[in-house]
Amino acid sequence: MKSKQPIGIFDSGIGGLTVANAIATALPQEDFIYFGDTAHLPYGDKSSDTIRYYSLRIAKFLLDQNCKMVVVACNSASTAASQVLLDFFQENTHFVNVVDPLVQACLNKSYSKVGVIATKATIGSGVYQKALKDGQDKLDVHALATPLFVPMIEEGFVHNQISQSIIENYLKDPGFQDMDALLLACTHYPLIKSSIQAYLGPQIEIMESSEVAADMVKQILTEKQLLNPGPQQGKHKFYVSDLTDSFRQTAEHFYGEAIQLEHLPLWD
Ligand code: DGL
Repeated sequence: MKSKQPIGIFDSGIGGLTVANAIATALPQEDFIYFGDTAHLPYGDKSSDTIRYYSLRIAKFLLDQNCKMVVVACNSASTAASQVLLDFFQENTHFVNVVDPLVQACLNKSYSKVGVIATKATIGSGVYQKALKDGQDKLDVHALATPLFVPMIEEGFVHNQISQSIIENYLKDPGFQDMDALLLACTHYPLIKSSIQAYLGPQIEIMESSEVAADMVKQILTEKQLLNPGPQQGKHKFYVSDLTDSFRQTAEHFYGEAIQLEHLPLWD
């Protein structure tokens, strides 16, 4: 493997752009290829078998593009497919998922009680609950599926009355009382982080995966001596399996700056 090869990043759609942006910020000299499976969004309502099937096909595409690393920038895919991706492809590339860095960042804080919110697939997998308890058996973990958040965010309802009311409805759950931190275990949720913080108050830490995942990418590439030395600015490609005006418009919000999405009909 060579340091000049690109990093592959994939998500069910455009939520993973939050992770892609953190990688571009932490590692500006790296080339990356982003693939958003917008034809199959959302993954959060799909079965584990279906998510695994999609993830394997996308990883194969990214390996065909010669990616030195594949970042699974989707919690639903990370929880359902991390193991099968390793089983099939760990000889050919390095993998980073978004679960391990977030769990590690949380365990480093030695909290007593944390909340986890995510899609049905992620919460139903029990992966966060198990990893957090394995790391700290006395940690009190309250996990809740919050499936309305993804369509709400995709539709641009992020800081208005409707989003406030949905946030309140989910987070008034008594299980969240007295928590020290809330983990946003879905790559869409950073877009409503400030509204969640405003609802919960400043005493509760809101943790999300984009920056810690980018740190892990950097750490592994450094260890494997695969960091692109530059000096040029990295080239970034953004592919989606279905392209609509709505994806074009919202992509900018997720990435934080204007980007050009290209249609790649992987499933034809
Ligand atoms: N971005 C995905 C995740 O992190 C959620 C979107 C979906 O359900 O596909 O889980």
